[in-house]
Amino acid sequence: MRKAVYPGSFDPITNGHVYIAERSAALFDELVVAVLYNTQKQGTFNIEERKAMAREALIHIPNVHVSSFEGLLVDFMRQERSRIIIRGLRALSDFEYEFQLAQMNRQLAPEIETFFIVTEAQYSYLSSRSVKEVFHFGGSIQGMVPPGVYRRLRERFPPPGLDMR
Ligand code: PNS
Repeated sequence: MRKAVYPGSFDPITNGHVYIAERSAALFDELVVAVLYNTQKQGTFNIEERKAMAREALIHIPNVHVSSFEGLLVDFMRQERSRIIIRGLRALSDFEYEFQLAQMNRQLAPEIETFFIVTEAQYSYLSSRSVKEVFHFGGSIQGMVPPGVYRRLRERFPPPGLDMR
């Protein structure tokens, strides 16, 4: 059985992430979407919120399972008994960082392979950070995030004048 792991911060998951998860779930028997629990960095959403949003967004893919990890990705890979890391590529500018990450992981665990999936053009400009920024300043993020993420963003950053009580 081929099991792959798609790691990331997912703070929050975007439609670009969902696309990569759909593509990779079609290639492997099981896909674990692994949300990084970074004790050094407080994100916008906590780990439970991120996992809940990812689960909701990926519920239509039966062979996807959402989990979280702390520490080194290669340790989580070994714990999960998977040797395939999935990463999405949006643009050439992603490549340098991704190349470094893949090389470091190879150094740490030569048996583990990183697979890159190129995103759909319509998601090539999407990132969790840009979505949050656009939303924060009142821009439209329609089609960029799953409905559950949009709902939570509205709860977290209510538009001025909207009473959320
Ligand atoms: O969504 P992101 O923030 O681009 O994901 C980055 C992630 C989580 C894949 C990466 O930071 C990671 O694997 N962190 C865990 C720590 C680790 O294993 N570091 C060694 C490789 S540099």
